[in-house]
Amino acid sequence: MERLVDGEEKTEDIFEKNIRPLSLKEYVGQEKIKKNLEVFIKAAKMRDEALDHVLLYGPPGLGKTTLAHIIANELGRNIKTASGPSIEKSGDLAAILSTLEAGDVLFIDEIHRIPSFIEEILYPAMEDFVIDIVIGGEGKSRNIKIDLPPFTLVGATTRSGDLSSPLRDRFGIINKLEFYSDIELSNIVKRTSQVLDMPITDDAALELAKRSRKTPRIANRLFKRVRDFALVEGDGQIDLNITLNALERLNVDKYGLDTIDIEYLEALINKFNGGPVGVETISTAIGEEISTIEDVVEPFLLQEGFIKRTRSGRVATDKAYDHLGISHYRGLFE
Ligand SMILES: Nc1ncnc2c1ncn2[C@@H]1O[C@H](COP(=O)(O)OP(=O)(O)OP(=O)(O)O)[C@@H](O)[C@H]1O
Ligand SMILES: [Mg+2]
Repeated sequence: MERLVDGEEKTEDIFEKNIRPLSLKEYVGQEKIKKNLEVFIKAAKMRDEALDHVLLYGPPGLGKTTLAHIIANELGRNIKTASGPSIEKSGDLAAILSTLEAGDVLFIDEIHRIPSFIEEILYPAMEDFVIDIVIGGEGKSRNIKIDLPPFTLVGATTRSGDLSSPLRDRFGIINKLEFYSDIELSNIVKRTSQVLDMPITDDAALELAKRSRKTPRIANRLFKRVRDFALVEGDGQIDLNITLNALERLNVDKYGLDTIDIEYLEALINKFNGGPVGVETISTAIGEEISTIEDVVEPFLLQEGFIKRTRSGRVATDKAYDHLGISHYRGLFE
């Protein structure tokens, strides 16, 4: 099911490229990460060395790809990009690696999805800047060793738990991206409104921020939709009224929960008595993939305190009962 408030990238997000910040200064929030990166980047430049390898992890739409490009920009180096699933053969990796120049950034998105035999080629590439590959076959195969220029691998993943520990250990700089505050998101919305030359009032920007599941991609997407309403039904300026109206028509509630979240919570409460229940069971009950539930639905519900994760499964909290308007049956008052 297509979701407006799902952090995952969709084709319509193509406009993201135009509104991506290009420098650390323009990148809103993630203050700790920015400050550290600033130091590491400066030091690498002063020593004229490649920056240590960087791992960025966190839920979809929080700015990993954006940050990878910013790192290359701030270093003043080229960036080459690849994604885990697209590297199928050792030759694919060798081909990308051989295009790198000293100090360049290689960005591998969804790095948890590279096949394990490719991972093994990556280890010496990361550690000693060499690759050993086998060429030929049928008894005529031979090993060749290729020296690489020092480079920086920036890996991004939504599932750091799926990363093997030897791979993880080879990253010198590991950053977990955090969800954004309402103020940060409203600054992102205002920045986007400037870039797209469509003014928005402060209260409207804050309202969008509150419903964006703490995720910049969603904030920008909601902004884009609301912009359409303002253009067609308003006078071109995005104010609170237009925004509230648009959000209602888009089915995004005051917490930014949409139909899937509500279905999830309703199933948990009505079908499974509030839990504890396993993710597989919920997945079957609402007809959504386990990976979608774990990567997209649950992180936000957990973060906002609608559910809790216990050893025996997911449990609905009082906040979930309240939000759905279902009274919470407590044995004490029977
Ligand atoms: N800190 C930020 N400041 C301003 N805009 C941001 C920030 N982080 C993300 N964005 C905006 O949100 C959009 C989505 O970010 P990005 O594509 O980098 O997310 P991602 O973490 O790589 O997501 P995925 O896991 O799906 O690959 C970007 O196009 C950018 O415009
Ligand atoms: Mg990305």
